[in-house]
Amino acid sequence: MELKPLWENPRLKGSSETYTALLAIPVGIKQKKNVDIVVRKFLSENCSVILFHYDGKVDGWRDLVWSDKAIHIVALNQTKWWFAKRFLHPDVVDIYDYIFLWDEDLGVENFHAGRYLRIMISEGLEISQPALDPRRSEIHHRITVRNRTGKVHRRVYGFHGSLNCSDDSRGPPCTGWVEGMAPVFSRAAWRCVWHLIQNDLIHGWGLDMKLGYCAQGDRTKKIGVIDSEFIIHQGIPSLGGSSADKPSRRGSHRGSRHSARRGSRRGSSERAAVKAQNDRSIDSRSHVRRQSTVELEMFRQRWDRAVREDEDWIDPFKHMRRNRAAT
Ligand SMILES: *[C@@H]1O[C@H](CO)[C@@H](O)[C@H](O)[C@H]1NC(C)=O
Ligand SMILES: *[C@@H]1O[C@H](CO)[C@@H](O)[C@H](O)[C@H]1NC(C)=O
Ligand SMILES: *[C@@H]1O[C@H](CO)[C@@H](O)[C@H](O)[C@H]1NC(C)=O
Ligand SMILES: *[C@@H]1O[C@H](CO)[C@@H](O)[C@H](O)[C@H]1NC(C)=O
Repeated sequence: MELKPLWENPRLKGSSETYTALLAIPVGIKQKKNVDIVVRKFLSENCSVILFHYDGKVDGWRDLVWSDKAIHIVALNQTKWWFAKRFLHPDVVDIYDYIFLWDEDLGVENFHAGRYLRIMISEGLEISQPALDPRRSEIHHRITVRNRTGKVHRRVYGFHGSLNCSDDSRGPPCTGWVEGMAPVFSRAAWRCVWHLIQNDLIHGWGLDMKLGYCAQGDRTKKIGVIDSEFIIHQGIPSLGGSSADKPSRRGSHRGSRHSARRGSRRGSSERAAVKAQNDRSIDSRSHVRRQSTVELEMFRQRWDRAVREDEDWIDPFKHMRRNRAAT
């Protein structure tokens, strides 16, 4: 994903830098301001950047000073996993030590890509995510919440649905996984995860619970949440965000308050138009959720069939209790 000069020698793998990394992020023009901040943070650490424009409005980004340094891919109404499967083939991104496959609605004021990667390397993590600031984030899973006094955590404690998570827990949702909104993968982990992504199942549900199989060893050690570099998950429902797929508690409250406030200052026909627009977006979100649920079931069925049909397969986590996240 590095843009090469037509002449002069390209930068070679393993040259002066200590690591190479790629930021890949699905974007819509509505999130331009936030994405600008995120991309600058990564470019200043010499990371490569690839933007997946799901709304087709790529020209709206040309005024940004870094626009020509990024790679832009346009495909209308496609999801992060659709793009990732098609444009981040492991051979193509093999030059990168680490891949950030992020949503567009993440706040990065307390995040530094260089420091983050140094922690990932020193802790021996193959898959990670930055912790979420619980005061300003939409939280779906407790394992993502930042521990204010720690550097990294790899498990949560206490009850998760009916499951009592403790130091004895060996798998999700207590340990050994991260959520889909801000994952970071090592080269080897990405090669594995890319194969897990199903070409036709574009919402990515269920994938996070299987990340442990890509951990390159013990998932309770090689997957973790980095607390000292943390982010805000704004939870804006869009194609770029995993929140489009999730019941968006905070987001939907915020939306309805917002429209009520706007409505009071407008005439009734405008109010009706705003309401119709909101209804449509709520309606399309519920369609997406329904589709995601269908895809999750197909993903599970394919997994089970693959396990049945592959006689050589030995499940490394088989002796562990079968846990499922209470989403
Ligand atoms: C980024 O690359 C430039 C040019 O090669 C170099 O001077 C700079 O030190 C690098 N910065 C980091 C953080 O690696
Ligand atoms: C993309 O989605 C928008 C909003 O749902 C819709 O209006 C538009 O027709 C879609 N475009 C394509 C090419 O599917
Ligand atoms: C937070 O991290 C500190 C230091 O690593 C640790 O002692 C503490 O138990 C952690 N708290 C939680 C809730 O995990
Ligand atoms: C949950 O697990 C912890 C650690 O194993 C244990 O101390 C605690 O009693 C358990 N809680 C319940 C209600 O079983």
